[in-house]
Amino acid sequence: MPTEPGNASHPARPAASGVGRRTLLGAGAALAAGIGAAAGALTGDDRDVRTDGASGAPAPEAAIPFHGARQAGVTAPQQAATHLLALDLPAAASRTAGRTTLRDVLRALTRTLAGTAGGPAPDPRLGDGTPARLTSLVGVGPALASRLGLRVPAALAALPPFPGDRLDPARGDGDLLLQLCADDRWTLSVVAELATTAARDAGATLRWAQSGFLPRTPPGTTPRNLFGFKDGTANPDRRAAEQWVWGPPGPHRDGTVLVYRKIHMELGAFTALPVERQERAIGRRAGDGVPLTGTAEHDDPDIYAKHPNGAYVIPPTAHVRLSSPRLDRGARMLRRSYSYDDGPDDRGLLFCAFMRDPALFTRVQTRLAARDALTPFVRHRASAVAYVLPGAPRGGVLGERL
Ligand code: HEM
Repeated sequence: MPTEPGNASHPARPAASGVGRRTLLGAGAALAAGIGAAAGALTGDDRDVRTDGASGAPAPEAAIPFHGARQAGVTAPQQAATHLLALDLPAAASRTAGRTTLRDVLRALTRTLAGTAGGPAPDPRLGDGTPARLTSLVGVGPALASRLGLRVPAALAALPPFPGDRLDPARGDGDLLLQLCADDRWTLSVVAELATTAARDAGATLRWAQSGFLPRTPPGTTPRNLFGFKDGTANPDRRAAEQWVWGPPGPHRDGTVLVYRKIHMELGAFTALPVERQERAIGRRAGDGVPLTGTAEHDDPDIYAKHPNGAYVIPPTAHVRLSSPRLDRGARMLRRSYSYDDGPDDRGLLFCAFMRDPALFTRVQTRLAARDALTPFVRHRASAVAYVLPGAPRGGVLGERL
């Protein structure tokens, strides 16, 4: 694996060399249009989204279909608001009994989520004439998978502890993970209530819930996090996502793994730093998200570029250096994070990333925990991992192949 000391094989290049730009151009136009377009390009199925006849763009009020090869909570362009829910299943007398409860809960969730994602509203609070534009995903946690002997990717496993973690078990983990996304909090609140009730009636209990949001961002541009930096720029294009985000050919092809971390951020301390120090901590410019080695936001950060005095342009402790796919043989994750606000003393990031193998997260987080310039300003407070199930075909139920 190429690492920092291996840089000798990468002769220093001048800052803003054309290499990063060429690489990026090869990555396709979707990235150039920002996360909305990039995530939309990951759909990879035949979802029937109604479009605006003139522009071909999705009509703003169009529902996003629930059914499809892959769950819309990963494939649809990122929406403004999210609500995550974790459910636990009761300890069962036998694997068969446990699987029956799981099947009942997944059937109840499928019915509720499919019913709220379009068509006639199942609840008068969702039905003011326009469809709810809900997207969702449902995933299975590693503990449940091993308890019931479920057919999940071999790579699905709980994350190891990382230095500096202060995890609250009551706000993390869970047998089932749901992520609901919509353009507004109202829809999420109503659907979360309907989904929780349906799951409870089928035998599950609510373990934790967490809501998050994005700033108002023009379509096709990258949203900012609460440190004020664009977050989600360097995401995989469609081809890279097939290799690194979705499962390999076989039963998990249309599934992926979600890594969720609730990360408290010391906003006052970080934003009080001079902007130039903030930019060196990230490795990108605050205003436009351009890497310190580039000229456009979607230029690839060139972690090998040096100043004439031999110092790296992107500092050794910069976040984009330590999280660079170049240190992981090109492996990539799809980040779709949200901000959260749990009162004046607790604001931060709901880090949500999708990848084929969560060992990638472990490698990146191990480097970040040790050296990232952001580390003194963040604290991981909750964590969860889940196998995001393939989508349900029309008339089908999530998790049929488990
Ligand atoms: C509160 C904590 C964090 C903040 C504020 C933060 C912020 C950022 C920012 C501003 C960027 C540059 C823009 C972009 O490409 O999206 C970035 C990139 C990235 N971050 Fe984070 N991040 C955080 C935590 C994490 C964690 C926990 C991981 C994984 C363990 C991670 C993985 C990455 C990756 C893979 C990239 C892209 C690197 C590249 O390809 O250039 N981040 N992050």
